[in-house]
Amino acid sequence: VRKENIQVELNERSYSITIGAGVLSGIGSRIRSLENVSKIFLITDENVEPHYLVKVAESLCAVDFEPEVAILPPGEETKCLEYAGGLWETLLDIGADRKSVVIALGGGVIGDLSGFVAATYTRGIRFFQIPTTLLAQVDSSVGGKVAIDLPEAKNMVGAFHQPVGVLIDPETLKTLPEAEYRAGLGEVVKYGVSLDAGFFEFLEQNVDAINERQDDVLTGLIAQCCRIKAGIVSQDEKETLGIREYLNYGHTFGHAIESAAGFGTILHGEAVSLGMLYSARLAQRLAENGIAVFRKIDEDFYQRQKLLMKRLRLFTEKADVLKRNPDFSLARLAGERLIPLMKHDKKMAHGVYRFVLPTELGKCRAYELDSMTVLESVLLGEL
Ligand SMILES: NC(=O)c1ccc[n+]([C@@H]2O[C@H](COP(=O)([O-])OP(=O)(O)OC[C@H]3O[C@@H](n4cnc5c(N)ncnc54)[C@H](O)[C@@H]3O)[C@@H](O)[C@H]2O)c1
Ligand SMILES: [Zn+2]
Repeated sequence: VRKENIQVELNERSYSITIGAGVLSGIGSRIRSLENVSKIFLITDENVEPHYLVKVAESLCAVDFEPEVAILPPGEETKCLEYAGGLWETLLDIGADRKSVVIALGGGVIGDLSGFVAATYTRGIRFFQIPTTLLAQVDSSVGGKVAIDLPEAKNMVGAFHQPVGVLIDPETLKTLPEAEYRAGLGEVVKYGVSLDAGFFEFLEQNVDAINERQDDVLTGLIAQCCRIKAGIVSQDEKETLGIREYLNYGHTFGHAIESAAGFGTILHGEAVSLGMLYSARLAQRLAENGIAVFRKIDEDFYQRQKLLMKRLRLFTEKADVLKRNPDFSLARLAGERLIPLMKHDKKMAHGVYRFVLPTELGKCRAYELDSMTVLESVLLGEL
């Protein structure tokens, strides 16, 4: 069985991510190895609980912890003030103190919410992540961003709170619904296209194993994504230097698509997949318009990215949205509807459109578009 360890370098906040099939049952000894632990508060959701709670709780009990457990409803709606408040109250009721540890067992919703609660209870207690969706394993559990949503705005209230450790067991992906798995792969392809050409080639060479969810290939895949993100986060922990922005390939378009479709209609990773195709097209059109930094982005580049995405069964056509909802009106994703929505993206600073675009395979840069013409031609054209 393949096992990987990644050290996230953040001075006194450094921690390690352990990845491998079966590592879930090592949670007890990982927590035991922390100094001075009093109460353990384990937070999960109703979909994850039947598969993995017993294993995690038994491992903790085996080293003489008696974890308190909260099982929350699944879904983005849980990532809100009401549930955060309930968890703060529970922590108080069980006598949690500054030596307590919160463990998040679940996807990005449970991770973000639990991390936010840990960041704020008595001004911050330790937090450990056991991410169980591909998106959480390759993205949300790395980087220390924790948050809850406001009714009007996602991730609007939050903090930077690094975990004390992360355990990732690719076996948990066996029970993940197909769409959630494919959406996570959207973020995986993102790392390859924009930040790591060698990783993109690894994905091309391992499509079958990835589609079959083979443990050892997934261990390597997740490890590389964590390495890439950890490398960026260690350089720009609080997103002040603009380096962390490189993680947003496909996201300016993706957010507009998510919102045009109506939040909850398609998954974030599905919108990002379409967004990556628009982004590659935009870079290609800029190259054709003589913008020298994008000269290497041509039709071959676009088609190579799209082919990998198709082989991994990601969204590559607007019509793929009909897989989620056959009654969906594709007119909602028409180019002229997307244009005004891009203005509301938080990446749109000072009235210019800001994108992360590839300059060659595995390299990208942020680019501010001052003219609407090229953008319109991309949005109104075919994917
Ligand atoms: N903090 C960050 O840096 C960061 C980055 C990206 C996304 N996010 C956040 O992550 C959230 C999305 O995370 P997500 O995609 O993991 O969604 P999620 O947590 O809602 O999980 C998706 C679904 O899968 C279920 N599930 C989870 N693990 C499972 C398993 N192993 N088997 C079966 N079912 C399982 C969940 O119950 C849920 O229904 C969003 O709120 C987003 O804002 C945060
Ligand atoms: Zn994303």
